Amino acid sequence: MSRMNKNIVCIGAGYIGGPTMAVVAKMNPDRKVVVVDINAERIKAWNSKGYDLPIYEPGLVDVVKEVRGRNLFFSTDIRKAVKECDIVFVGVNTPTKMFGRGAGRASDLQYWEATAREIKEWATGDKIVVEKSTLPVRTAAAMDAILNDHAKYGFTVLSNPEFLAEGTAIKDLLEPDRVLIGGPSTKAGAAAVAEIVSIYRGKGGRWVPAEKVLTTNVWSAELTKLAANAMLAQRVSSVNALAGLCEATGADIDEVARVIGADRRIGPKFLKAGPGFGGSCFKKDVLNLVYLCESFGLHTAAEYWSQVIKMNDHQQERIVSRLFKEMFNTLANKKIAVFGFAFKADTGDTRETPAGTVVRLLDEEHVRISITDPKAIPNAKKDLADLQGIEYQTDPYKAAKGADAVLLMTDWKDYPGLDWAKIFKSMRKPALVFDTRNCLDAAALRKLGFKVLNIGK
Ligand code: UDX
Ligand code: ADP
Repeated sequence: MSRMNKNIVCIGAGYIGGPTMAVVAKMNPDRKVVVVDINAERIKAWNSKGYDLPIYEPGLVDVVKEVRGRNLFFSTDIRKAVKECDIVFVGVNTPTKMFGRGAGRASDLQYWEATAREIKEWATGDKIVVEKSTLPVRTAAAMDAILNDHAKYGFTVLSNPEFLAEGTAIKDLLEPDRVLIGGPSTKAGAAAVAEIVSIYRGKGGRWVPAEKVLTTNVWSAELTKLAANAMLAQRVSSVNALAGLCEATGADIDEVARVIGADRRIGPKFLKAGPGFGGSCFKKDVLNLVYLCESFGLHTAAEYWSQVIKMNDHQQERIVSRLFKEMFNTLANKKIAVFGFAFKADTGDTRETPAGTVVRLLDEEHVRISITDPKAIPNAKKDLADLQGIEYQTDPYKAAKGADAVLLMTDWKDYPGLDWAKIFKSMRKPALVFDTRNCLDAAALRKLGFKVLNIGK
């Protein structure tokens, strides 16, 4: 087989594996890419005739339409796929461990280790194994130990962390700021890194420009992923910490952030105050960093990063406290319409969504809750299955009918353009809007008769 067309398999057809491999296949039409998963329902959805894919990402369907059946395949036959490939990307889930040592902080590596053992069992030749899931630093060493101990074949383990953000995954994949590949400094390591670099360069060098493909040692690559997410999460917590102070003093967080961000050393992105960060990565990665720092006796550093999470939790508690105060210190039996349940706009993903935390706190106060979201209702229903009496509406007007308050949690782009006069008419008075994303026209809402709350003003 020529060096240019080594086959690829990706284990794990989730938010990372699916979109990443779709774009890898698009930009490498001369390579066969197979995505496998133990979850048959997920694979069925990836293969569905009507392209009813298991995850929602703008632009994803078009890429899958272009490449599925051409050089991208989805399958549950992990054994066959591993046998026939030269390169294995591992994109299985690594949730925060909820038991035993490191509970609540460390990553649960059981899926990942099971995968390493499967690869070893089913391999029929040498392979490059690429970590794609977010993993604690030095996981590659463990993977290397499992794979290469008494092995018939040679396995070279690389780290290639994914930096895509949900909602913009396809754009991030097509035009990444950088691609990071960490590998060992052995001859086999260098050859494996070159192979993965050639995938990201794409056929004929048409994908990622050479200067954006960065190579490091394995540990640096693993730590960079945690560090990049921790720095981003830290910016969100910093701006949210300032938001509370703005509310207390009469400053406006959007004005403050605009001016801070005009400093080129700081830059304007990731300075939007809101309900706190959610998503599968930020909390998990910061907790991982905390655990790593603790493990190496760096207690002050561990405490520093812990504060990023504490500040985030506090932001959601603050939202409920402010509602409580504004709604005359009693929420029992009042109806609150939650606009948006996804952790951010343009995704149906609800993992670690601030809306989930807030809904649970409201439920404790016996609030009648209706939830509306254009994409996340199925996930919301699963997440909140243990709560009684929650109403789910795809239509925001129905969700708001008879409500005392609208609590906007996700900045879906349709929300500012809704007929707010119609919503006002249908609500109980006094009618409150709490816009935790500062995305609505507060002055216009006030003119209509709403009482309006914002974050950081
Ligand atoms: C993040 C990283 O951006 C990405 O590089 C990594 O690979 C995975 O984790 P993601 O979680 O998909 O991506 O979304 P992101 O856009 O980073 O937003 C994370 C959370 O922070 C969201 O809940 C978002 O609403 C919040 N956020 C973001 C803010 O509250 N304010 C901001 O200014 C930016
Ligand atoms: P991420 O956001 O990291 O992509 P997801 O939870 O969306 O995480 O996807 C991870 C996928 O990995 C899931 O679809 C899960 O079924 C799959 N998976 C977990 N363990 C294995 C395994 N041993 N073999 C194959 N697939 C696995």
